[in-house]
Amino acid sequence: MKRLHNEDYGPHSRLGAAGRGLTMGILFSAPQYEFDIIREEWLKSVQQIAKNGVFVGGPAVSGFESSFASYTGSAGAVGVGSGTDALFLALKALGIGPGDEVITVSNTFIATVNAINHTGARPVLVDCDRSSYLIDLEQVKACVTSRTKAIIPVHLYGQMTDLRELAPWAEAQGIAVIEDCAQAAGARLFGKAAGSWGIMGCFSFYPDKNLGALGDGGAIISSSPEILTKLRKLRNHGGEARYQHEMPGFNSRLDPIQAAALQIKLRYLEEWSQRRREIAGWYDKYLQDTDSVILPKDSNASHVYHLYVIRIDNGRRDELKKHLQKKGILTAVQYPVPIHLTPAYSSLAYAEGAFPNSEKFAGEILSLPMHIALSEEETAAVASEIKSFLNVNKKMLV
Ligand SMILES: Cc1ncc(COP(=O)(O)O)c(C=O)c1O
Repeated sequence: MKRLHNEDYGPHSRLGAAGRGLTMGILFSAPQYEFDIIREEWLKSVQQIAKNGVFVGGPAVSGFESSFASYTGSAGAVGVGSGTDALFLALKALGIGPGDEVITVSNTFIATVNAINHTGARPVLVDCDRSSYLIDLEQVKACVTSRTKAIIPVHLYGQMTDLRELAPWAEAQGIAVIEDCAQAAGARLFGKAAGSWGIMGCFSFYPDKNLGALGDGGAIISSSPEILTKLRKLRNHGGEARYQHEMPGFNSRLDPIQAAALQIKLRYLEEWSQRRREIAGWYDKYLQDTDSVILPKDSNASHVYHLYVIRIDNGRRDELKKHLQKKGILTAVQYPVPIHLTPAYSSLAYAEGAFPNSEKFAGEILSLPMHIALSEEETAAVASEIKSFLNVNKKMLV
């Protein structure tokens, strides 16, 4: 494993903008830096896969699955085609479908709700908490009916929902907790990994995730051997062995070329999570006490900062975003429209105003650049641009 040093990070480093022949600019996310680190080892693995001629499944996939299971402290992991498929197959493994209800949060990426919708079950949405932006667990309890079969807490932005009370409560009611860990690979709450609190944990390996492949990929972890067996069948046309179809299944398998990349990256994940925390600390330092800027809180010490999300509460978020872009600083909004107000889910018939926190925050949140190659100097530059924009605007308002 390659050891990384401070000189390996930042715009002027071997991995940074200068080393890549780029002009100065601050990228929002940059999986290409990670690729630089794993390139040689990964190419060797790909050659081995090609030599063996096993292009679907095989030792690269099973090897990664067992490493990921032990990393997360689970009985097993099942590699699938994407994070969306992971959620969908998790619900299918529990037999969830028409007539059932699954509760999740309006402040999430739409994939969480798409997965529920495609099983035929009804997505039941609740608002997010005003300080963590995560699912409001009191509202979850209030929405449970006799049709509720599962709850999907989303560990959004890399921070874990505190499941210490909800997980045993739901189990006692016979309701499954399926964790959406797409943004939280490597996160731990009181030492217990994201994905290991509920009956299943679903991961996305989309390239810019904290554990990202070089294309699409996903996985489900569980500590139930029965569920793991069912998932292995569901992802492979309903059977683990060729032409032995025990149930109607799907084709959603983790590609071995992606598994080979993930196997190597998994060894860096702790170090990279630490790096992200360090970057978040720099932003905290340079942005503290800035008028109109609300910083993220790591209230339960679980955050792995997939995203560093601030809020601008003076109504100028969009102008600030444009200003930063002009200065070469790329930012994003995760997410600009809460799920219940998207055209895709107007049929759920939630009115505007149904989830006030999600609706308010959608107009205020701003995700700052976050990737392992960011330097302290760059975070200071981002903070200084934010401050000067807000100060100029404040003066203009007086
Ligand atoms: C919270 C959340 N859930 C689910 C997904 C879906 O993952 P994928 O893009 O791998 O299908 C994502 C990915 O962006 C996500 O952020």
